[in-house]
Amino acid sequence: MHKIRIQGGKTLKGTIPLSGAKNAALPLMATCLLTDDALHLQNMPFLSDISSMIDLLAQLGVEVHSDTSSKTVTFNAKGLSSTTAPYDLVRKMRASVLVLGPLVARHGEAHVSLPGGCAIGTRPIDLHIKGLQALGAEIELGEGYIHAKASQGLKGADFTFSVVSVTGTENLMMAAALAKGQTRLINAAREPEIVDLAHCLNGMGAKISGMGTDTITIEGVEKLHGYTHRILPDRIEMGTYAIAAAITHGDIFLEYGDVNLIPSFAPLLEQSGVKFTQSETGLRVKSVNGKNHGVDIMTEPFPGFATDLQAQAMTLMCTAEGASMITESIFENRFMHVPELCRMGANITVHGSSALVRGVPHLIGAPVMATDLRASVSLVLAGLVAQGETLVNRVYHLDRGYEGLEEKLRNCGAEIERLQE
Ligand code: UD1
Repeated sequence: MHKIRIQGGKTLKGTIPLSGAKNAALPLMATCLLTDDALHLQNMPFLSDISSMIDLLAQLGVEVHSDTSSKTVTFNAKGLSSTTAPYDLVRKMRASVLVLGPLVARHGEAHVSLPGGCAIGTRPIDLHIKGLQALGAEIELGEGYIHAKASQGLKGADFTFSVVSVTGTENLMMAAALAKGQTRLINAAREPEIVDLAHCLNGMGAKISGMGTDTITIEGVEKLHGYTHRILPDRIEMGTYAIAAAITHGDIFLEYGDVNLIPSFAPLLEQSGVKFTQSETGLRVKSVNGKNHGVDIMTEPFPGFATDLQAQAMTLMCTAEGASMITESIFENRFMHVPELCRMGANITVHGSSALVRGVPHLIGAPVMATDLRASVSLVLAGLVAQGETLVNRVYHLDRGYEGLEEKLRNCGAEIERLQE
């Protein structure tokens, strides 16, 4: 098992090129199921979640060609041979459920294993199912699978999400692209990854409008065609490295960074003690006077503060001056990083969905581990500022979402290495 060793206390200065967004890439990859033509995705981040999705698509009969040097992956679903997403692939990654909508829309049926429990709460997929039923799919649950059928094709309809769901909106938007007539998704998610997906689908011939607002309108078309799409930069990676700059009182230029992708995060971080400067080529994050101040944070759907940056922001608050109240409103049980941060000397008390963080003068390095992707990276950030050595176990979580993490941080002066045991 790999571990990451960090010797804390370095001020980070330098440039980090941001990768393509994992959470945009995953639904974009599933769109290949909507056409017989080739789909070329550029700026692909090579991560283990992407490999899991490639394995799943290949299992369905999609031809996949990866070119690592140009970061382009080509998908062709012409020879689709199966409509079953089996348990052993789906259990590795919940986002596998994104094949459900496209398969039933284009191939009239889909059999997708239920993703099951997850470390960050129960995470149901009832809205994906209800939405597809609204579009006319017949759905049965059995043997741990969702069996969806629409032999006559899907029909456009209005569907209102009772809770804002990112992958739910994506699944239905892809399905509705090939449905007969108009679909309106109401209380839809507004994340930049949804907008990126809609742009790609429109490039393939879909008729989608309203993306980025809470009502998305999709006029179904008969057929979609091939397309070449460039994946947008990863805003969660951008926020994570912005915190690396803040917590080490450094100065990092995030190449391809765009402050518009982090509308709630940037002002809060500025309040805490950094300055963002946008230029044509990226975003600079610089510590203002070598101090961070506690600020209150509440996670919300976009354009609110992203739950995927909550753990990292909590790490920043651990050594900030004053106190910070962090409220998690999207997922239950998303404070698994708290006991590990406390083992490093943090002062955090959890009350239900809120955590009170009282800043301490310093953290102390320790062996730590976490059970999800963002919690793991929050421990890496803690290691960057802690006194002494931190060993982060279960590195496979980091490999799901951070491309070249050690190299990117090392290039800014961090003392960080991967140990193989
Ligand atoms: C996506 C992101 C994930 C991020 C999350 C919230 C991808 C691949 N993953 O996950 O990184 O943390 O958005 O920003 O893009 N819900 C239901 N029923 C459903 C679906 C969701 O009740 O059918 C609830 C969930 O339990 C949760 C909330 O809706 O409380 C939001 O979840 P959702 O937006 O669906 O998260 P994901 O799309 O799985």
